[in-house]
Amino acid sequence: MSPAGPVRLLQLSDTHLFADPDKRQAGVNVRDRFNRTLAAMKPWAAHAHGLLHTGDLVHDESAAGYDDLAAQLATLGLPGRVIPGNHDDPRQMARAFAGPLITTGRSLVVRDWTVIMLNTQIPGAVPGALAEGELAALDEALEALTTDHVIVAMHHPPIPVGTPWLDAIALQRPAALQARIEAESRIRAVLVGHIHHPVDRPWCGARVISAPSTAADFCPGAADFTRGEAPPGFRWLDLGPGGEIDTGVVWATHG
Ligand SMILES: [Fe+2]
Repeated sequence: MSPAGPVRLLQLSDTHLFADPDKRQAGVNVRDRFNRTLAAMKPWAAHAHGLLHTGDLVHDESAAGYDDLAAQLATLGLPGRVIPGNHDDPRQMARAFAGPLITTGRSLVVRDWTVIMLNTQIPGAVPGALAEGELAALDEALEALTTDHVIVAMHHPPIPVGTPWLDAIALQRPAALQARIEAESRIRAVLVGHIHHPVDRPWCGARVISAPSTAADFCPGAADFTRGEAPPGFRWLDLGPGGEIDTGVVWATHG
């Protein structure tokens, strides 16, 4: 990709890997689906600038699961950042993702764009929230900003997506984040996972964008937990110098 082209990021989410490669989540083999997605990402990675994983990396919090995921993602050859979802063990994440390319760092800067990673995990709970420390870190990062445009990346969506059982376990008390989005026009999007299907919605002058899961698909609109039949996949985002975001999902339809 030419230096004058957009900044291209790849977003992966909700991989839910187990130490046991044959283990299933919600009836699907998560390892097979992850492998298919990784294979589909490889040609995109050759023309991308960064990788983001928006949480629920490993389902069983196993050291082997994190080590394996770190080794697999390193093969993409991209700098990247990972944040915890409700299923993750942040200590294992910090140990396994110690770099050099992919880390648990607070931000990733590529040209005109800064991605700020926020941890929405409430230990022991399924819904998420931004603790005071995370909000303070967001304020500090915005204060120190050296780029014209910002993406905030976190696990739990800050808005309802129209799927009642998922909306009940989304980000709690989103008003503090909403106030910052409304006050800071450089924040162009909030990237999330957790809901296991893609959305792209306007929110307070920015957008809330999610990636599909590489594990089980969750059916949009379902009142109660319902597995969907979508294949695994990842999201690409092309970020322009004027703050524009072009984005889409690649489905890993073939094994
Ligand atoms: Fe998940």
